[in-house]
Amino acid sequence: MPLIEWKDEFNTGNPSIDQEHRELIGLINDLHEILRKNVSTSDETADFLGEIYSQISAHFALEEQLMREEKYEDYTGHKTDHDRLLDDLRDIMDGHHTGSFESMEQDLSNQLEQWFSVHFSTFDIKLHNQLGH
Ligand SMILES: [Fe+2]
Ligand SMILES: [Fe+2]
Repeated sequence: MPLIEWKDEFNTGNPSIDQEHRELIGLINDLHEILRKNVSTSDETADFLGEIYSQISAHFALEEQLMREEKYEDYTGHKTDHDRLLDDLRDIMDGHHTGSFESMEQDLSNQLEQWFSVHFSTFDIKLHNQLGH
């Protein structure tokens, strides 16, 4: 069973944002599966974390560009939450690098699930509702 199932409340109504959210959820589910089955080497897990990090950064950059173009009023609050998610992800990658990661695999999956479920269904929905497209 995947870690994160797509839910209706994740739909922002913006097709490119929703498409990227689906892809991010797919990546997070794949990571969860890899960790759960313990089938990947430490290097493969590090590569996978790097891949997730770059896709998430690109996605956040897209939303931030949209917000700047539209002079979105809660740009700062939304961007602060993006930065927090990226900081946490960097901490996880550092933890993995220094070897303290194995004990936190379960935490990692839970944390990612929390972050993205909450961010999609709060900040991203509000963004869509206010921009109206
Ligand atoms: Fe966002
Ligand atoms: Fe998003």
